[in-house]
Amino acid sequence: MIYSRIAGTGSQLPDKVVSNHDLEQIMDTSDQWIRERTGICERRIAADTETSATLAEEACRKAIETADVDPAEIDLFVVGTTTPDLVFPSVACLVQKKLGLPDCGAMDVNAACSGFIYALSVADKYIRCGDARKVLVCGTETLSRITNWKKRDTAVLFGDGAGAVVLEASEQPGILSTHVHANGDYKDLLTTKVGVSRGWDGMAESDGIPELFMKGNEVFKVAVRTLGRIVQETLSANKLEKSDLDWLIPHQANLRIIAAMARMLDMNMDHVVVTVDRHGNTSAASVPLALDEAVRDGRIKRGDMLMLEAFGGGFTWGSALIRY
Ligand code: UT7
Repeated sequence: MIYSRIAGTGSQLPDKVVSNHDLEQIMDTSDQWIRERTGICERRIAADTETSATLAEEACRKAIETADVDPAEIDLFVVGTTTPDLVFPSVACLVQKKLGLPDCGAMDVNAACSGFIYALSVADKYIRCGDARKVLVCGTETLSRITNWKKRDTAVLFGDGAGAVVLEASEQPGILSTHVHANGDYKDLLTTKVGVSRGWDGMAESDGIPELFMKGNEVFKVAVRTLGRIVQETLSANKLEKSDLDWLIPHQANLRIIAAMARMLDMNMDHVVVTVDRHGNTSAASVPLALDEAVRDGRIKRGDMLMLEAFGGGFTWGSALIRY
């Protein structure tokens, strides 16, 4: 039996820090409201020279270095993003040759905040079926580019960044299972109202940007319910108990959602990797950013059992159970 295992992780954040106090200067909000409702204290925002591709490139470079693999041996490159630099070529294609990858398959997966979990599931399947031995997987976003900085209901929530992993074939697990789901009936709760094929007619309404809209409190309720179901589905599929988990690495949208998941899993918060306080919601980048942080600072060790989960626009949701 072939499994995939994480050989190395990497991440990249923009240098520019925007605190809640900075936002108080430009919109009707308060540090107290943002902290109490979301857990966010600050977020990183891309400079004009930074894009989803440049952040991805650096995160991937670090993952390749940590994994100690030759980029020429990578068989597939999958990037989860909902904010690509261009309609096409994909971020994966823009970055592929800069990293020294061969003419391997390179693609973006758009599953909004679940993009990294979706990308990881594609990579895992390629390795399990024997079509690839080494796969580079990345989640990268610049949601600041689709944020209306005049609107407090969304502007305080998001940040930019990228995270990556190198997966390689192994006789030992590794990734035990991945689970992905979607329900397009919820398409209007978290969306951009303009786009390529639909056209850009709504741009004036969005102040000239393809703005992100969210009915936050409705998304919140569905997110908690749905994530509760998927972590249970993931444990059941592997015949494991909550107590078998060492770490929860959740999507970082809101500290209250993260805490609800920890309660459902009977996990103490010191076994939950939290970055939302410093990164905000970085969409598809949030899970690999949190993973890389906890691997690098030594909290996550080889052999630990990890539950990764994410929920986002679509709605999409997904999880991965990993023996690190
Ligand atoms: O990553 C994809 C998935 N995304 C999520 O899972 C996000 C889920 N949703 C959330 O995290 C929360 O719903 C939010 C953080 C977005 C909002 O928190 P909430 O507790 O659901 O607040 P709310 O939207 O019900 O708004 C409560 C009040 C409103 O005022 P009134 O109508 O009660 O007078 C808002 O106008 O808070 C007001 N408000 C703000 N006040 C100060 C909304 N945004 C702000 C703000 N500063 N930035």
